[in-house]
Amino acid sequence: MDLPTIPAAPGTPPCGPPTLGDDGWVVTRHADVLAALTDSRCVVPPVPDGPAGTLAWLRASVSRFSPPGRHAARRAVGVAALDAPDPGELRRAAERLTERILDRPSEENMTPARRVPLLVLAERLGLADPAAAATEVVAVAAAYHPGADPAAARRADRAVAALLALSPQAPAEVTANRLGLLVQAADATAGLIDAAVRHGRAAPDGLATAMLLAEVLRLDPPVRLTRRVAADALSLGGRAVRAGDRLLLRFDAANRDPAVFPDPDRFRAGPAGPVLTFGAGPRGCPGERHALALATGVVDVLRRASGALSEGSRR
Ligand code: HEM
Repeated sequence: MDLPTIPAAPGTPPCGPPTLGDDGWVVTRHADVLAALTDSRCVVPPVPDGPAGTLAWLRASVSRFSPPGRHAARRAVGVAALDAPDPGELRRAAERLTERILDRPSEENMTPARRVPLLVLAERLGLADPAAAATEVVAVAAAYHPGADPAAARRADRAVAALLALSPQAPAEVTANRLGLLVQAADATAGLIDAAVRHGRAAPDGLATAMLLAEVLRLDPPVRLTRRVAADALSLGGRAVRAGDRLLLRFDAANRDPAVFPDPDRFRAGPAGPVLTFGAGPRGCPGERHALALATGVVDVLRRASGALSEGSRR
């Protein structure tokens, strides 16, 4: 099978020892990124709280941005909610919905990549109107990470209020962490699907969607980096990191570390390696299987529709 090369996206730093830049330490080697993700001295940067029902409140209530002492209990809420949807069933639901959208494109205001995962998850999480919820989740996702522009943050405040009104009755922190699943799922899953369809055009005929997704996650990750701050001094990749230093953990660079992936830019058709795009350690993505199931369902249908995958072949 003649497998393509996927060059690093512009802005991906080369792999090497940590370097100190304007935004803190840039960490690019696979071993260093993994060490930071699994070191309890490297904590998620704190976020300010805000009035109940706002975007700032949501951020401060979800496990994703929680300090170490609050993280585990909040994460358990999301993990419990993810227990119910069986990934095989999610994939089939994503396929059915994508086929329906392709049959009636004029009725849609979002691409299947964006809409299908959110509709399927919102329905499984019991939101009253999954289609309305999907629109609101996109608005929250646009401002979710701290530092969003003020207009997007105001729109996200209204969207959080709308999502709370659509959510089943539950304690506020439970509702926040269930909504957190949808927001975390939104951009990353859509980005994976879009990239898989794009790179799939250059892939050999009939390449299984699971393999395509695995390599797209490595070579064109929809989440390119994450952030930590050092709670204590530590040594990372031979560098002395001081307490309070910021760390930029670059998944995009680490996934091309030649020490782990020989011939790193070339698409591989073998078993998936230790790709870091879903993170690792106690804060690693709890939705990995769900993301892959949903993306497989959508990408299979889109590839079959474009002729890149023969009828009946999947995964
Ligand atoms: C291709 C799709 C996805 C990618 C690449 C991705 C990636 C990640 C990464 C890298 C983290 C950890 C961030 C860090 O440690 O700083 C994370 C956390 C998280 N993800 Fe995902 N994710 C995806 C889809 C999903 C989906 C579908 C769900 C839910 C159904 C989800 C739910 C979460 C949650 C709740 C967290 C926070 C976990 C915690 O607080 O411990 N993600 N994700």
